[in-house]
Amino acid sequence: MSTNLLWQSTGSSTDEAIMRFLAGEDVVLDRELLPFDIEASRAHVAGLARIDIVSADEAAALDAALAELAGEVEAGRFLLDARFEDGHSAIEAWLTDRLGDIGRKVHTGRSRNDQVLVASRLWLKARLADLAGLCRGSARVCLDRAGAEADIVMPGYTHLQRAVVSSAAHWWAGYAEAFIDNAWRARQALEWIDANPLGTAAGYGVNLPLDREHTTQALGFARMQVNPHYAQLSRGKFELAALEALSQALLDVRRLAWDLSLFASAEFGFVELPEVWTTGSSIMPNKRNPDVVELLRARYGVVAGARAEIEQVLALPSGYHRDLQFTKAPLIRALHQGLEALALVPRLLADLGWNRERMAAAIEPSMYATDLAVELARDGVPFREAYRQVKDALGGLAGRDPAGSLAARISPGAAGDLRLDLIEQRMRLP
Ligand code: ARG
Repeated sequence: MSTNLLWQSTGSSTDEAIMRFLAGEDVVLDRELLPFDIEASRAHVAGLARIDIVSADEAAALDAALAELAGEVEAGRFLLDARFEDGHSAIEAWLTDRLGDIGRKVHTGRSRNDQVLVASRLWLKARLADLAGLCRGSARVCLDRAGAEADIVMPGYTHLQRAVVSSAAHWWAGYAEAFIDNAWRARQALEWIDANPLGTAAGYGVNLPLDREHTTQALGFARMQVNPHYAQLSRGKFELAALEALSQALLDVRRLAWDLSLFASAEFGFVELPEVWTTGSSIMPNKRNPDVVELLRARYGVVAGARAEIEQVLALPSGYHRDLQFTKAPLIRALHQGLEALALVPRLLADLGWNRERMAAAIEPSMYATDLAVELARDGVPFREAYRQVKDALGGLAGRDPAGSLAARISPGAAGDLRLDLIEQRMRLP
């Protein structure tokens, strides 16, 4: 296949070290985007046919060659490598190799600038849909366990100090609602970025009546990203929006992982992690360590780092700059690592077992103090006075039981009235 640079003038030479520097890891990263780049190229070709820039026969030939390339990529028979400057060049080289001058027509009215925009936009949409699905998966397990574990007593902490009686169901329902929110956030980010940049060319449009409505609809975008200048401005900005949505989910994973690593310690002893979720120590024969949980906790940092990297790249004036290529590596890395972590969470949650005795044993009489103060206030004692009375007589709280405390916690959403039906309703995403 001829792999000349798209922009090289006849007879001019290139320097190998400089070429290597220019390409960087781009060609490898473009493997991720290539299927989407091909899909967008097919829509672009159809659009060109609709305005008679290519004939129907030429369009059919281009489309067939692109379909063949898509098949080769999927089967692993076509590998994007250093023969090419990037994925965009590889597509054109493939078409030119197969179709000669017809292949040389494919780039009419487009630039690699809108090509990379549209490919990464389609890729991002797919990843955000994955994110929403994975968050719903975690929420499902949490909600089911909340429904089943209303009678499992769990101490409630603030400042990591024993505070009030609570339940496992209350803990589960909290994470369920969190993951549903995270799924919504992913959906909202998807909706926000669901705009077609193809047809904006290098950022200034072209002197052709490109059928952008057609490519928008053919590629399944909700709308056209109208202004070519803005299409360029949105590079990195949309990537950050997606990573922000991912961060929301991973923030909850990090907190969950923290809870589990504390609860799995001998000091708490609340949680039993099945053996597959733990590892041994190379030196201490007695150890089982919650490494998986800790690695889940660490994934937030990967995404936070990626966001910082992209923010640094975006310190640019408007218009395309090659710097923007450096948004790709952090974006792809963050989504791979973030989604990989989220995919494990439902199984982890389904597998974890409680040590009910240890949790019940962690309830001490002082944890009924708030119940009593509120009871007195309900009976007419001004709350501050009730608070003082209970504080002065903390010893008098023995004889209460956790089940009674939980049953009486009837403020909506609390352990005595979890309102799981309301949380369940929000499982239905738009
Ligand atoms: N690899 C490039 C990127 O990711 C593709 C666009 C190249 N455009 C250009 N004008 N050099 O930004």
